[in-house]
Amino acid sequence: MAMFKRFSDLSTSEKLLDSMFLITIGIGYLFAILNLYYTHQGRDGEPGLSVKDVMYAYHGSHNQTRLGAAINGPMESNLPNKAAKQEILDWIQHGATEEEFNEKINPILQNNCVMCHSTDSGLPIPHFDSYANVVKLTEMDTGATIPALVRVSHIHLFGIAFILFFVGRIFLLSDIPPWLKRTVVTIPFLFLIMDIASWYITKIIPGFAYVVIANGALMGLAFGGQLLTSLYQMWFYKNKSLPEK
Ligand code: HEC
Repeated sequence: MAMFKRFSDLSTSEKLLDSMFLITIGIGYLFAILNLYYTHQGRDGEPGLSVKDVMYAYHGSHNQTRLGAAINGPMESNLPNKAAKQEILDWIQHGATEEEFNEKINPILQNNCVMCHSTDSGLPIPHFDSYANVVKLTEMDTGATIPALVRVSHIHLFGIAFILFFVGRIFLLSDIPPWLKRTVVTIPFLFLIMDIASWYITKIIPGFAYVVIANGALMGLAFGGQLLTSLYQMWFYKNKSLPEK
């Protein structure tokens, strides 16, 4: 019978290396969830993360503008008070004229936004240095653009595939039934691919936001399961049928 390597065959140094990798990736994963929360929460104008926020992120609110969506969501905390926010929302509602922009809106942006939203900051975000640039953001919100989705897709596919591969390789050393092992190493990749496909579908069909969330949750579950099983088996599990090592 072919013998496959198990955690019990590893040296302590190798177990330490694997453990530190898994723990670091695990912490990274928690931060990824926090990042997800901070980028998407409040897009629908309500605090906290909801399915609607995910719909707005990919499909857009279609009755909101990019500027309106931003100041109701992630950019709200940059404004000094609710009055300033209302002033901008009213301006958009009234047709975003240049006159009112110069008189009321530009001063708010100059005081609260241009430290980041300018050429000087070097950030790849809209620059608020002219009426023309700002007014572009008052057109209807149709969610993430295709170039933006393509950019995030390739980063996700490359980056996460590497993480899943290394975590999966370590997990293969655990002592569990082969059918379960085969399932658990395969599904995170499938959910990753489906997750990314569902972003594009959500852009067209907002109800697909549920699939985005379900895919993300299932990928997290399979990934977390591998991580915890590996750490447990590496240090605490003893296979009774094997001689003591
Ligand atoms: C501390 C830096 C910072 C400040 C201050 C700031 N922003 Fe932003 N803003 C960002 C970053 C970074 C992004 C991109 C992040 C993202 O897309 O979630 C962004 C994104 C945006 C977007 C989204 C653009 C898009 O692609 O749809 C809008 C609109 C916006 N900000 C408006 C504002 C307004 C209005 C203010 C002032 C009240 C403001 N921001 C203040 C950093 C800042």
